[in-house]
Amino acid sequence: MWRGVLARGSTSPASTAIFGFTAFVSLAGNMSSFSVPPPKCLQKPLAVPHRYMFGPGPSNVPSRILMAGINPVIGHMHPEIFEIMNDIKSGIQYMFQTQNNMTLAVSGTGHTAMECAIFNTVEPGDSVLSAVNGIWGERAADMAERIGARVNTIVAPPGGFFTNAEIEQALSKYRPVVLFLAHGESSTGVLHPLDGIGQLCHKYGCLLLVDSVASIGGTPLFMDQQGIDILYTGSQKVLNAPPGTAPISFSERACQKVFNRRTKPVSFFLDLSWLANYWGCDGKPSRVYHHTGPVTAFYSLRESLAVLAEEGLEKSCERHEKVAEYFHAGLESMGLKLFVKEKKARLPTVTTIVAPHGYDWKEITTYIMKTHNLEISGGLGPSVGLVLRVGLMGCNSTKDNVDMVLEALKDALKHCHKSKV
Ligand SMILES: *Cc1c(COP(=O)(O)O)cnc(C)c1O
Ligand SMILES: *[C@@H]1O[C@H](CO)[C@@H](O)[C@H](O)[C@H]1NC(C)=O
Ligand SMILES: *[C@@H]1O[C@H](CO)[C@@H](O)[C@H](O)[C@H]1NC(C)=O
Ligand SMILES: *[C@@H]1O[C@H](CO)[C@@H](O)[C@H](O)[C@H]1NC(C)=O
Repeated sequence: MWRGVLARGSTSPASTAIFGFTAFVSLAGNMSSFSVPPPKCLQKPLAVPHRYMFGPGPSNVPSRILMAGINPVIGHMHPEIFEIMNDIKSGIQYMFQTQNNMTLAVSGTGHTAMECAIFNTVEPGDSVLSAVNGIWGERAADMAERIGARVNTIVAPPGGFFTNAEIEQALSKYRPVVLFLAHGESSTGVLHPLDGIGQLCHKYGCLLLVDSVASIGGTPLFMDQQGIDILYTGSQKVLNAPPGTAPISFSERACQKVFNRRTKPVSFFLDLSWLANYWGCDGKPSRVYHHTGPVTAFYSLRESLAVLAEEGLEKSCERHEKVAEYFHAGLESMGLKLFVKEKKARLPTVTTIVAPHGYDWKEITTYIMKTHNLEISGGLGPSVGLVLRVGLMGCNSTKDNVDMVLEALKDALKHCHKSKV
């Protein structure tokens, strides 16, 4: 009967869709049309091994945070969820050391926050400057290029970083609207100094965008005091939560740019005006459906922020720094070399070790995974083949875990094939 009505000359897209539905209805009565059988693999129960996660992420999720995720799924627009989101917002403001109202968690991983930052602040034709000293600066440049920005880079070799003078020179040359900088370059193990860079950016009318996915919570960072305009991180590194949520915050200055755009951001999903409403940051009395927030991931994120607040940022940073020093001393005493030469530029959360001479780095990481059930990783992007990377983040930043990694490395160097050259 529907068919009869719609067949009479209607050509609207809606009618096309309903024709599709009509065809489906006639097939649905014919069971032999289900020609793809249920997969055999799904008959086996889900099996996930325990593993020591000492790579650059994800880190081990302690049971307290894991258990938070088993709470019931309720509506993403229910008042209890809004309250949880408000708690998360406060937790992020604490972690970021900011008073910014425009503070929330993006539904997605670190990359989603990265795109949220760039897509909202940058318009086609805008000048963007990316400080590249590893893979993250490269990716930020790629993202900005995709939306038609004029992208310039300053490049430091893997393991290096930029002086404020170098940054100022580039700012005055390219006059960017946004400068991207990775605070913790997890592909090279570099902790980038931040003092003074916010002020420099503002002097040139530029916003400072900082990636702290691998660093925040493990090393001091002060969003407001350091003049950072957009800051983001991820849930699965120092926070020890499952991957899937990404804290982000925008300063007043950043909001001025975002909310006075000539064009809409290319992404509906990441449009800050929608996200701001969903997170109750826009002062409007009611929140409107934008997308279904991953509520179970919110529970875990809230718990991970509670764990951080309980320990305190200061203590957490001190612990990461002490454990990193202990680790670095242990590595040097077994004859290994740290990839980052300057002590103060070593990231306490992710350590890069010069790939041991004569060995195949891949054989080392594979051996350690097989024999010790422990993940460490090789390089990434410009550091591939140059380094081994070990991440000790959040709850896993302990001396016992350092000892475990050192033992595994000693064992690997003994058993892996060493070439004569
Ligand atoms: C891990 C990481 C990211 C990317 O995060 P995903 O959650 O994998 O998308 C971005 N920046 C840095 C510095 C990282 O260490
Ligand atoms: C049911 O589907 C099969 C396979 O597609 C087809 O051969 C058969 O003719 C259909 N039977 C009816 C009653 O539509
Ligand atoms: C922050 O947002 C809240 C809620 O929308 C609003 O009441 C408050 O005035 C805002 N504060 C600032 C400093 O903008
Ligand atoms: C950190 O690492 C240990 C291994 O030493 C792992 O078993 C655990 O799940 C992680 N978390 C805590 C809290 O130790």
